[in-house]
Amino acid sequence: MSSASSMNSLTVATAAIFGSLGLLWLYKKLRSQQRRAGLKDKVVLITGASSGVGEACARAFYCLGCKVILCARRAPELERVKKELMALKLAPGIPAHTPHVIPLDLERLDELPDKAKEALALHGHVDILINNGGMSGRGSVAETVLSVHQKIMNVNHFGSLVLTSAILPNMISRRSGHILAVSSIQGRIAIPFRSAYSASKHAMQAFFDSLRAEVAEHNIHVTVLSPSYIKTNISLSALDGDGSVHAKMDSTTAGGMSTVYVADKVVDAVAKRQSDVVLGPFTHGAAIYIRALVPNLYFWIMAGRARKGTKTED
Ligand SMILES: *[C@@H]1O[C@H](CO)[C@@H](O)[C@H](O)[C@H]1NC(C)=O
Repeated sequence: MSSASSMNSLTVATAAIFGSLGLLWLYKKLRSQQRRAGLKDKVVLITGASSGVGEACARAFYCLGCKVILCARRAPELERVKKELMALKLAPGIPAHTPHVIPLDLERLDELPDKAKEALALHGHVDILINNGGMSGRGSVAETVLSVHQKIMNVNHFGSLVLTSAILPNMISRRSGHILAVSSIQGRIAIPFRSAYSASKHAMQAFFDSLRAEVAEHNIHVTVLSPSYIKTNISLSALDGDGSVHAKMDSTTAGGMSTVYVADKVVDAVAKRQSDVVLGPFTHGAAIYIRALVPNLYFWIMAGRARKGTKTED
């Protein structure tokens, strides 16, 4: 072979590789758009919809033409979100379904089945359940009272569990549905001074992993989304060990991902039926692998972190 013709075949090969990568990229983009478009008219129930990630999810699903059901404790805030959604100008061909508001408190577990019934009665079913509502905690185990552990476990874990269990029979009978849990990287690794929060998120991860396997045969999909820090008000309403409200904006929270970005990944996860999504900087994702593969290294890093006493700052 002459050097000219080998140059030629090299050029052809390179063009073929980049051409196929380009086509693959285009195909994926179109496929993703098509899947998102497929969410039109779906009934989406979102907890924690009065602010933060929940509010951003409400907006994202509403803009795709979904029938959103907004749930959280604060009714006036839900009404504000509803009003803001209805003021949005939607893309051509996207129906503007009037959002519904159902105030609920995830801590009041005995009231949740009735709330689920109320939600199911609106459209006869719920297609997508976004278990997003939750709260955080700050403080060492030594100074955290039991009621704080219980409250955080109730809101994050049992709240999502009860609501999910109440919606599930309807999904099973329709052989259709998607349940997403907004967990946390702390559902995969525990960090010091977050024992209650980490434990509640680990519980969620286990519960939804177990559920995913059980409902696969009913054509129901389960996603656990584990984001790192998100720029929300979560640290403001977090509980300190003694049960008082933390009421501070932590620097890690303030420097976190935007709620719009996370909501986009929530929509993606539903559209692509992803089972498990970890979101955040590389080092946070890597920590999950370090914990799994070299646990003693992870424990050493965390002990160092605890010694520095970063109780409130991340
Ligand atoms: C945090 O709370 C403030 C004041 O209520 C509100 O304006 C802001 O939108 C909230 N942030 C998020 C991300 O929800």
